[in-house]
Amino acid sequence: MPNIDNCKIIELERICSDKGSLTFIESEISAPFNIKRVYFTYDIPTEAERGGHAHKNLYQLIFAASGSFNVSIDDGINQTSYFLNNPQKGLLITPGIWREINNFSTGSTVLVMASELYDEDDYIRDYKKFKNKC
Ligand code: TYD
Repeated sequence: MPNIDNCKIIELERICSDKGSLTFIESEISAPFNIKRVYFTYDIPTEAERGGHAHKNLYQLIFAASGSFNVSIDDGINQTSYFLNNPQKGLLITPGIWREINNFSTGSTVLVMASELYDEDDYIRDYKKFKNKC
């Protein structure tokens, strides 16, 4: 059964120098799945509401590559939310979890690593259908 307790913050390494910071992510090492796809959303109006869906089989790791935003997660029974504002700290979202992303700061970038290629059939976009599956 999907459970929000299986979603967690994963902290990446940070290599600092007087030239700035570098953080890296490696498939099946720092990301606990094989990364097949990376996407990012940007130019996001501060009042936008993104997400609003669950995935049947997809694992995702979500980072605030810049700026900040909230990610609310829901397994159909329990809910919690995370404030992401550090590019070193990503939120792992396991399959079957409803997510909503909002409260975007100006200039924020949502960077997502995903375990599968894009497949619209993997989405559950209707909250009632999501609740009925739980
Ligand atoms: P969606 O996953 O709903 O975005 P968000 O969760 O950030 O609100 O995707 C928005 C649109 O982009 C939707 O029409 C599907 C399309 N899309 C792709 O074509 N490929 C992708 O890898 C992703 C993530 C979305």
